[in-house]
Amino acid sequence: MEKIKIEGNHTLTGTIKISGAKNSAVALVPASLLAEDTVTIDNIPNISDIKALNEILEYLGAKVKREEETMVIDPSTVKNIAIPEDHAKKLRASYYFMGALLGKYKKAEMYFPGGCSIGARPIDLHLKGFEALGATITTEGDKYIIEADELIGTNIYLDFASVGATINIMLAATKATGTTIIENAAKEPEIVNVATFLNQMGAKITGAGTSEIKIIGVKKLHGCFTEVIPDRIEAGTYIIAGALVGDNLRIDNIIPDHIEALLLKLKEMKANMKVEKDHIIISKTDKLKKVNVQTQVFPGFPTDLQQPLTTLLTQCTGTSIMEENIYENRFQNVPYLTEMGANIKIDEKMLIINGPTKLVGKEVEATDLRAGACLVLAGLLAEGETKITNIKYILRGYENIIQKLTNVGAHISLIDE
Ligand code: UD1
Repeated sequence: MEKIKIEGNHTLTGTIKISGAKNSAVALVPASLLAEDTVTIDNIPNISDIKALNEILEYLGAKVKREEETMVIDPSTVKNIAIPEDHAKKLRASYYFMGALLGKYKKAEMYFPGGCSIGARPIDLHLKGFEALGATITTEGDKYIIEADELIGTNIYLDFASVGATINIMLAATKATGTTIIENAAKEPEIVNVATFLNQMGAKITGAGTSEIKIIGVKKLHGCFTEVIPDRIEAGTYIIAGALVGDNLRIDNIIPDHIEALLLKLKEMKANMKVEKDHIIISKTDKLKKVNVQTQVFPGFPTDLQQPLTTLLTQCTGTSIMEENIYENRFQNVPYLTEMGANIKIDEKMLIINGPTKLVGKEVEATDLRAGACLVLAGLLAEGETKITNIKYILRGYENIIQKLTNVGAHISLIDE
């Protein structure tokens, strides 16, 4: 079994360059199907979620070329066939094929998506949006057949500002007849990245990044060149590593505005960091103050950094409270942190963390992607050896994590035992 082995308590120094954002790239790749001709996407991260999407594209008949960070997708040979269950279940973002295929061909046939089990994660808001645009949905077990004679623009109010539903409705509405307005839209930077990409293809989208997005439907979309924004969650994870064991660790290729909620919390903790226009330099300090954090939709504190930040909260002096408001099952990392020496109590959707506590290396399991990141961070700090199992989750979202950390002095490797 493949595991990540970390010998902890080594100082990290040097530079880590942040890759393209997973949650943007996994939407841009399916969105490329909306174009009539070739699309080039730069700064694509080399992670297994992208490989899974690539397989779906090729299954549908697209021609895909991948050279380092660049992906060239020719969708002109695509046939709109059903996406098989095993492909759909490999990742959450397979659901973006629903919006893209429905937009382009007025029909999409696929299964309920996969992804980390961090809560119920329904897709009802996506489906309601498709129905509002005029689609009918039939289900056969876990399979959805979504079709329309014509998609017609309308006003759609999202009961929750869901990232996935906002993007999926945007994808379907770009080629609808007339104007669609998404109210209470999600405002995450990844949504702006997708809207910019669609506009580069010839779509007419305004308001992305605000809670009201307007999409004027167009008949055709053409090929274009675009770029994935830097991954704010990867950046946040390595910034936390710097606060734990860094000595002037430089995190390069970041957009500070995208991680403002994290930076404000680090400032409140009195972390030792210097924020510049496109990078941060951060070092460990022994005097971190306790803080209270609540996860919220953007620009609030991101749920995807809740588990990584919990590792740092174990090192703050006093009682910190972490409140998870987005997912109901995102504390599966806690028993492992406790085993390593953390003092954490779970009270419904809150963690009560008493620190600082010494962490020691143990064999632990990555139950989901960001739980895995939390345990890598704990392993970097802990005394002795940490082994992390089920690492497929970590490799879904962190490009070259072993190499990036080794380059700055971590004692981390992939082992098979
Ligand atoms: C995306 C991200 C994920 C991140 C999350 C919140 C991708 C591939 N994944 O996930 O990393 O943690 O945003 O920032 O981009 N909900 C419904 N019905 C729906 C859709 C969502 O009830 O139809 C609920 C979910 O169960 C969850 C909340 O809304 O409680 C947030 O979901 P959403 O923003 O849609 O997240 P995902 O697209 O699943």
